[in-house]
Amino acid sequence: MKLYSRITGTGSYLPPRRLSNADLAAELATQGIETSDDWIVERTGIRARHFAAPEVCSSDLGLEAARQALQAAGVKAQDIDLIIVATSTPDMVFPSTACILQDKLGANGCPAFDVQAVCSGFIYALSIADAMIKTGAASRALVIGAEVFSRILNFNDRSTCVLFGDGAGAVVLEASDTPGILASDLHADGKHVGILCVPGHVSGGNVLGQALLQMDGQAVFKLAVGVLDAAARAALAKAGKTEADIDWLIPHQANLRIMQSSARKLKLPMEKVIVTVDQHGNTSAASIPLALDAAVRSGKVKAGELLLLEGVGGGFTWGAVLLNW
Ligand code: ACO
Repeated sequence: MKLYSRITGTGSYLPPRRLSNADLAAELATQGIETSDDWIVERTGIRARHFAAPEVCSSDLGLEAARQALQAAGVKAQDIDLIIVATSTPDMVFPSTACILQDKLGANGCPAFDVQAVCSGFIYALSIADAMIKTGAASRALVIGAEVFSRILNFNDRSTCVLFGDGAGAVVLEASDTPGILASDLHADGKHVGILCVPGHVSGGNVLGQALLQMDGQAVFKLAVGVLDAAARAALAKAGKTEADIDWLIPHQANLRIMQSSARKLKLPMEKVIVTVDQHGNTSAASIPLALDAAVRSGKVKAGELLLLEGVGGGFTWGAVLLNW
């Protein structure tokens, strides 16, 4: 049995409709909501986001990203023996988006399930796939983050609706004789449920409660910077590494200021941080694999380099994965 897991291919997909901050501000102005490119860029670093067409679901975005990742890995869909989709915007209440995507991909038969850890979802999913490969339960996994957050945004709340976008990212994770994933560190603290949530549920054919995103932005900000640093250091310690060993930090793409703060705490220059939030806003579980794919395809990330992936999101959930490229 092979002892390790390693990412062998990445992919990503953004739906074609792109709204710059100015485009979004113009749309919001028609509803009497005032915002500006300056405000959004200064507070978040976001310049644009992509919104999926109404008939397009998370499984459709994930499918495109998965196909790219398979192609990059040189693996056929039929050879995949595990599919995990991280999403907070599933196609249906059930079955899982992973099952829907599996059928669209033609990888029928392998285990497929969703992971719900909001913006930390990809970190959770990657850690689970790594653990399953290391126990021999799988040997070639597709791990996908896919979201249509535009569906759960309150476009009357300017403090949240300017922050998020739709998209998907994917990796193929394969059993390997040499170490790829070195360590992971996952956490959750449910006492913070209320600071970032979509507090609705389905009952009797109706949605009860509020099915739109609510956030206490300042509380999220303060918690995020502390827990990200703790998870990063824990993952480094588990692998016997230090912050000086990191070649690339690939953080959850929520807000440039949170990323700058994470980098500062780890004494990393921003040149070592992969930033894509400016181009797609916060795509929740899709943001880390989107950034990873951009880093790989641009040629920034090179064989043998050490990557630290870190995520934080509603729950509150957080975690980090340290890997050799
Ligand atoms: N355009 C213009 N003005 C705005 C907008 C907007 N889109 N949104 C809020 N404002 C105004 C507010 O009304 C307020 O005005 P007032 O002073 O007249 O009352 C002013 O801007 C300041 O509002 P704050 O909410 O205090 O702004 P803050 O500096 O905290 O920035 C932000 C808000 C960007 C949300 C910040 O708190 C933040 O980045 N938080 C982190 C949250 C985050 O990134 N969440 C992502 C999801 S969670 C995750 O992925 C981990």
